[in-house]
Amino acid sequence: MEFNAPAGENLFDKAKIVGKSTPRIDGPLKTTGKAPYAYERHDVVAGQVYGYIVGAAIAKGRIVSMDTAAARKAPGVVGVISTLDHAKPLPPGMQNNAPLFGGAQVAHYHQAIACVIAETFEQARSAAALILTRYDRAPGAFDLARAAPDAPLAKGDGGKPDRATLGDFDKAFAAAPVKIDARYHTPDESHAMMEPFATIAAWEGEKLTVWTSNQMIAWAKKSLGTILGIAAENVRVDSPYVGGGFGGKLFIRADAVVAALAAKAVGRPVKIAMQRPLMINNATHRHATIQRVRIGAEQDGRITAIAHENWSGNLGGEDGENGTLQTPKLYAGANRLTANYIATLDLPEGNAMRAPGEASGHLALEVAMDELAEALGMDPIELRIRNEPETVPATPEMRFSSRNLVRCLREGADKFGWSRRSAEPGKMREGNWLIGMGVAAGYRGGPTATSGARVRLTGDGGMVVETDMTDIGTGTYTIIAQTAAETMGLPLEKVRVTLGDSAFPASAGSGGQWGAASSTAGVYAACLNLRRAIGQKLGFNGEDATFENGRIRTGAKSFALADAGTLSAEGEMTFGKFKSDYEVGTYAGHFCEVAVNVYTGETRVRRMLAVCDAGRILNPLSARSQVIGAMVMSVGAALMEDLAVDKRFGFFVNHDLAGYEVPVHADIPHQDVIFLDTTDAIVSPLKAKGVGELGICGPGAAVANAVYNATGIRVREYPLTLDKYLDKLPRYS
Ligand code: MOS
Repeated sequence: MEFNAPAGENLFDKAKIVGKSTPRIDGPLKTTGKAPYAYERHDVVAGQVYGYIVGAAIAKGRIVSMDTAAARKAPGVVGVISTLDHAKPLPPGMQNNAPLFGGAQVAHYHQAIACVIAETFEQARSAAALILTRYDRAPGAFDLARAAPDAPLAKGDGGKPDRATLGDFDKAFAAAPVKIDARYHTPDESHAMMEPFATIAAWEGEKLTVWTSNQMIAWAKKSLGTILGIAAENVRVDSPYVGGGFGGKLFIRADAVVAALAAKAVGRPVKIAMQRPLMINNATHRHATIQRVRIGAEQDGRITAIAHENWSGNLGGEDGENGTLQTPKLYAGANRLTANYIATLDLPEGNAMRAPGEASGHLALEVAMDELAEALGMDPIELRIRNEPETVPATPEMRFSSRNLVRCLREGADKFGWSRRSAEPGKMREGNWLIGMGVAAGYRGGPTATSGARVRLTGDGGMVVETDMTDIGTGTYTIIAQTAAETMGLPLEKVRVTLGDSAFPASAGSGGQWGAASSTAGVYAACLNLRRAIGQKLGFNGEDATFENGRIRTGAKSFALADAGTLSAEGEMTFGKFKSDYEVGTYAGHFCEVAVNVYTGETRVRRMLAVCDAGRILNPLSARSQVIGAMVMSVGAALMEDLAVDKRFGFFVNHDLAGYEVPVHADIPHQDVIFLDTTDAIVSPLKAKGVGELGICGPGAAVANAVYNATGIRVREYPLTLDKYLDKLPRYS
């Protein structure tokens, strides 16, 4: 069915199950070890052998020779495959540009160049060390700051140069009585998800099955077909549980391709979990950015000119990290400029990482707003409220579907105790700790995409939902069960949800925070078809009947759902063109309090609050987990995460979890999340939007602004490690 007009009043407005805090239905499986991850699918196919991937030891160049003889003779080895088995690189999968395997050319460090297959993991690993590879190393570009000045504009919509203007920025900026002009740097970052890339691959004749860990099953199926040169119908992808992805698993990675090739070569199922030290350089990462923000305002705080320019780099000069994405949407201002430049770098491929674009963009724009507030002598919340637009600032003919950013900021200020903040920085002190508070606004789109499902009555009063939708730790199982239970009038425990199998109807998948809104709408569409089918079978109009407590009431008649026996229906929600008349976004007010040790410079986050406006919240419990997880990631971005680039040899040096620092429990204090009680009828029949990426858009800037408020030292280069401000802290004798 097509969602082709704003949702009217419907059953979700009187929901008993949707919208209620509900513990994850897959929680007991996860906590008892019964939810198997890809590498643990020991029972799906017999005779599994282990693959161990070898990564290239150069960043750019050519493999001259590879001697695999010793590896082939090593104990337990059943085969070795080499990139030189292929004359040229296998074609890339969807939305990727780095080659995953094949050919003598090396495009980036730790590109997969061989795989040893053995009876045990240890044998494969040991033999892999015996492979001798000779390279012809070529010079490469690894330094964004050096490449940025000559970088061309990236390709934007329709391949046009990614630069947009409104009014006359230069003139208005020159005339503005108060202005700021600042540059910010964000480093390369890694998804660093707990579950590594992992795949078990098995062939049956021409048919390939991969049990893998992936966010987008339909993309994975299609991509494996393209990469391996086989018909996509011959590929089955199964990924029921995913231990984190954050965008790194939107795509097919080398583990799946190499496992498939290796399984073909040795005639046995092959399992590969990419070793942690290979993951960061082998796969994708969030690109570093350099961002320049200029804002001009009247004395009363009204913005008259705003420009946001962004530079990032990528392999092959393909799309980068576009930090300007939120800027056309957030604040009023008649004269505007955004521009996004992309340099060609030979580092590993940059690609989507949680809230790509905005997560980095807020780290610049929302600190620039703090700097402007200070220049104006204005409260930073008041500055934002003063610049709240009526319609989309950069495209004024476009309306917001709904927007409650001002409420987020006001209610957050109240709840957080913002009035206790000292407007003058460096003035609040507790013992050896300087205390500061910071605020930032948050914006992230609320997109939807076509999503399908199959629903089946099992004949005993229960039902099953089948869709290739994934649960990447987000709570998808539960919100889908809630949606089906609500629509079919069943208690939650009567609904079984099966996900992640390409044999099921294709869903929107998990990405871009579109998963929750889209997949539940698809399940709703399937359930409506099931209600019609039940009506046909039992002789009533399924659309008008009441489904409640496992029973169906229609006129004077009443049935048990079990009376319908076993019945199955498929459905798909598509989203109509009417939506493109609206800007559908999600909004947040983010607050943070930090303490900075006046002697050591150590920064401790003390409190965090997010107030979110994201339409109907389908499950406040799992939505809260999404937001606090994203806030943790924001603390990482603000204070810790930093892939160190070796600019001579072109790789990320700290490529494991020992060297790549992320927040741990001891770094994170109590976090509060408040969801505004709003709905958005433009989004979907459930009037719900995603929230998992909204949570990483803004909190990092709130941390940085809090550090400034504590210390009076503005650091514009992330992460804010103490070496960048220690020598500027006040001296006390
Ligand atoms: Mo998200 S970066 O689209 O998984």
